[in-house]
Amino acid sequence: MAKKFYLLVFGCQMNVSDAERIAGVLASIGYKKTKKIENSDVIVLVMCSVRQSAVNRIYGILPKLQELKKKRKNLKILLTGCLLKGDRKKLERHFDYIFKIDELPFLPSFLLKNSKKYKRRLSHYLQILPSYQNKISAYVPIMTGCDHFCSYCVVPYTRGREVARPVKEIICEIKNLVKKGIKEIWLLGQNVNNYKDGKVDFLSLLKKIEKIKGNFWIRFISSHPMNFNEKLISFLSKSKKVPPYLNLPLQSGDNKILKLMNRNYTVKEYKMIVQKIREKIPDVAISTDIIVGFPTETKEEFQNTVNLFKEIKYDMAYISKYSPRKGTAAFYLKDDVPPEEKKQREKILSQLLKKIALEKNQNLIGKITTVLIMEKRKDGWLGRNEYYKLVKTHSKKNILGRFVKVKINRAHPFLLEGEIINE
Ligand code: SAH
Ligand code: SF4
Ligand code: F3S
Repeated sequence: MAKKFYLLVFGCQMNVSDAERIAGVLASIGYKKTKKIENSDVIVLVMCSVRQSAVNRIYGILPKLQELKKKRKNLKILLTGCLLKGDRKKLERHFDYIFKIDELPFLPSFLLKNSKKYKRRLSHYLQILPSYQNKISAYVPIMTGCDHFCSYCVVPYTRGREVARPVKEIICEIKNLVKKGIKEIWLLGQNVNNYKDGKVDFLSLLKKIEKIKGNFWIRFISSHPMNFNEKLISFLSKSKKVPPYLNLPLQSGDNKILKLMNRNYTVKEYKMIVQKIREKIPDVAISTDIIVGFPTETKEEFQNTVNLFKEIKYDMAYISKYSPRKGTAAFYLKDDVPPEEKKQREKILSQLLKKIALEKNQNLIGKITTVLIMEKRKDGWLGRNEYYKLVKTHSKKNILGRFVKVKINRAHPFLLEGEIINE
């Protein structure tokens, strides 16, 4: 009987994408994926260290893993993903094998006695063929690592410096995906719009992808606000494949905090970028990332974030409470905003987001938007439109994976409803 593997993935899209490559390697040596952890011969945990809460989830499941190991002596438990040195030391004795994601090509030699025939000449783990989890939307990493060193962030330590994936490889992967019928490509990178492979920068890469024949959307995440220059904005405004949705992580709306965060922009500069983008792409939807309770953040400084949030009117926001990360520059600042206060600030921003998101969605009532249908539910079809908003609609036909035109007739903060007009 074929051996089975179980994958447990935490963290961002990059980890989800890495997990698809882990699945690819395991499938290539005959392992089958299982949804039941109890039945597995190999468990692979893909970890995130961005906040302590993410790290705690790994520690939280150790007892369950130990229990499983007692029942199945040959069970192998593996750990990969983003982890810091300190945690690696503490976690080592609980795992059979801890590997860095770029060591993935060596996984067969750990699991198999005779792994020689599986040795492939791969110069990079991204050359591994992934087992894509979704038939409609696919993640394509275009770079790894980050050179920004924002003072709070572990990513440059867990993922290393920026390394661009060769253009040829990216184009080849996307062409294959489009041929298979994929309708949405997510280009991934921690600093995705800083991509550079020789003479090819992010803009020229987008142009090359746009030329690939087929009906598909190109999205990308995470971008750095300061890497949106006029040429890129101009291209985005004319692009037929990149929908009008951008992620512009703000982190804080206060200049003192931005400086302490080492974000390399001021509120004024950030606002200029948003203004330039909205001039060229008036209907653009913007999402953001914000950290509340960064060391020394006063009530007034937090209020500056609230005010900017109201001014920009974000369509979506990912709000986090500051979590000190050992090894980062901010770790040496006193984590002096009490947990209750962080919670309160998070709540204020979440409520504001809900209000603004509803207002913005109400503006779409009566409008026709294009929706890529992603899943069937009991009460209809669910998809995302060009603004990356969740839309529910109805159809008796099988419209899974199709682009449909939907006239919006109801708005909620994080959901739109409407009827298809082009059946
Ligand atoms: N490269 C991306 C995102 C990286 S991590 C960017 O620059 O936006 C994803 C998000 O986690 C960040 O945008 C930030 O809002 C949050 N984050 C990162 N480190 C954090 C920390 N120490 N505490 C709380 N939130 C953090
Ligand atoms: Fe972290 Fe900053 Fe790099 Fe984003 S840009 S991954 S927040 S260091
Ligand atoms: Fe977490 Fe690593 Fe992503 S720390 S957010 S999984 S890059």
